[in-house]
Amino acid sequence: MTKHIVILAGDGIGPEIMAEAEKVLAKVNDQFGLGLSWSHELLGGCAIDTHGVPLPDVTLDAASKADAILLGAVGGPKWDQIERSIRPERGLLKIRSELNLFANLRPAILYPQLAHASSLKTELVAGLDILIVRELTGGIYFGQPRGIRILENGERQGYNTDVYSESEIRRIAHVAFQLAQQRNKKLLSVDKANVLEVTELWKQVVTEIAPEYPDVELSHMYVDNAAMQLVRRPKQFDVIVTGNLFGDILSDEAAMLTGSIGMLPSASLDQHKKGMYEPCHGSAPDIAGQGVANPLATILSVAMMLRYTFKADAAALAIEAAVGRVLDQGLRTPDIYSEGTTKVGTQAMGEAVVAAL
Ligand code: IPM
Ligand code: MG
Repeated sequence: MTKHIVILAGDGIGPEIMAEAEKVLAKVNDQFGLGLSWSHELLGGCAIDTHGVPLPDVTLDAASKADAILLGAVGGPKWDQIERSIRPERGLLKIRSELNLFANLRPAILYPQLAHASSLKTELVAGLDILIVRELTGGIYFGQPRGIRILENGERQGYNTDVYSESEIRRIAHVAFQLAQQRNKKLLSVDKANVLEVTELWKQVVTEIAPEYPDVELSHMYVDNAAMQLVRRPKQFDVIVTGNLFGDILSDEAAMLTGSIGMLPSASLDQHKKGMYEPCHGSAPDIAGQGVANPLATILSVAMMLRYTFKADAAALAIEAAVGRVLDQGLRTPDIYSEGTTKVGTQAMGEAVVAAL
């Protein structure tokens, strides 16, 4: 039986970077006889334009049936003024939640060829390889009640609810412990247990699970300290597990340590390792349509998809090695360009990866 991928190119630079990722996917599909097929659906602003909603039923239906989803990026100023409940971001949040994609894996890896691109001193970041495991379908992003209400005195009040049940904490903790086992066996759980009860429970539950993974060294840190340590001594970290909001913030910070958010893929997995794979960066409307966006994060997302959902490790490694070779050749999109290297556009970069395969 062939395995099927639903591609959601999305908005802004999404279609441009996805076109290159598709070329790479087609190449490895042939090379490794993977038997994958794929089709396209709409998500985000482009779906609002066609269907009036960011996540149309046809898209959700196709995504539910697919074995994996490959996403470009969603959103842009064109849709910023429309009603909150149907903005492009809502489509993204809804597909995460409808498909139960609770485990968000965000690697922050520094490519040796790009070490100078970090805003930190090279010796602090050289060899950096952190994996942030962010809970993606709970916490304050989804907690009820939420809203903006009018108080008796006529003043407006905004409110959200940060809530995690034991089972939600347990399942993400298991994912993180297991990933730590496959890496350097160090897991840091990030909380704000000194102030917030919800994260006090988080810390307790993660600690209760730890004896099941005796080979993994578990530690805890408050989120403010973790944010500081990430820029102070980032190489002390291996796997970091945390809730939805802290994970959103810390993963951007970790991405910046690498100096090139245009290089970082991510995976959002359900209980059965079905996943949605997407670059960490956004839709970059300011450079959309110019053919200058970096397609490598999306190409590396294809590699992650092959590894986690399709268990095609050799094909995943081949893509990652091809990206390394293209960097060795000195090819750079403008976001990672530096003197002495060769500036190329989106398409040339994608085709160079295909050639390197
Ligand atoms: C991310 C993004 C999203 C989030 C936005 C676009 C809703 O920042 O994937 O990190 O906050 O989860
Ligand atoms: Mg974010």
